[in-house]
Amino acid sequence: MPQDPPAYARIAQSLPPNLQALYVTSVAHRIAHGCGAYSFEDGPGLYALAARLQPRRVLELGTALGYTAGIFATAVPGCQVDTIEADALHVQLARAQLAALQLSRVHVHCGRFEAVLPTLEGGFDIAFFDGFAPSLAILERLQALLAVGGHLVCGNLGLVKPREAQPLRAWLENSAAWQACPALENGATVVARKRV
Ligand SMILES: C[S@@+](CC[C@H](N)C(=O)[O-])C[C@H]1O[C@@H](n2cnc3c(N)ncnc32)[C@H](O)[C@@H]1O
Repeated sequence: MPQDPPAYARIAQSLPPNLQALYVTSVAHRIAHGCGAYSFEDGPGLYALAARLQPRRVLELGTALGYTAGIFATAVPGCQVDTIEADALHVQLARAQLAALQLSRVHVHCGRFEAVLPTLEGGFDIAFFDGFAPSLAILERLQALLAVGGHLVCGNLGLVKPREAQPLRAWLENSAAWQACPALENGATVVARKRV
């Protein structure tokens, strides 16, 4: 008799089946590995945003098993995705998952964000932060790597330490630098367009 999918599988239900499967694999990995690689909880929203913006180049911080990198690459045929991950097991698994999806347009960089970002050429159309807690120093680097008119998508704001949260929010809400856009994950992920 067919059974209902588990609740976490339903979150990704409107995505193409291969991305739904990668979501389920990612959640199973996190539970088995006991790591902090929580999968992005609004994959359909991220897919719709990418499909609307049609980026040529996407930069992602926090690959885990490649679920959200796969979302960008699938939503926008032809776009190049650079994604950064420090955990060597995640890098190995992500490369295997993305190869199975035939998404060779995704380049998985192995290393810490701080070490890899200076090696990348700027001009990204989307910069997506989905590492653990975002820091102002990392977000400033992403701002510099974005093209004018590019979009910063910053998740995990709820993980920022209370004393750092206020300056970080103020920086994101500086309307001289950023044009606010509709958020994802009920406001937990901020989206902002770089003005200058
Ligand atoms: C929340 S998970 C990413 C989830 C992924 N985007 C998805 O939706 O499946 C965060 C990932 O960022 C990696 N990470 C955290 N801090 C990092 C750092 N400073 N440099 C590189 N990778 C980091 C972790 O190892 C983890 O795999």
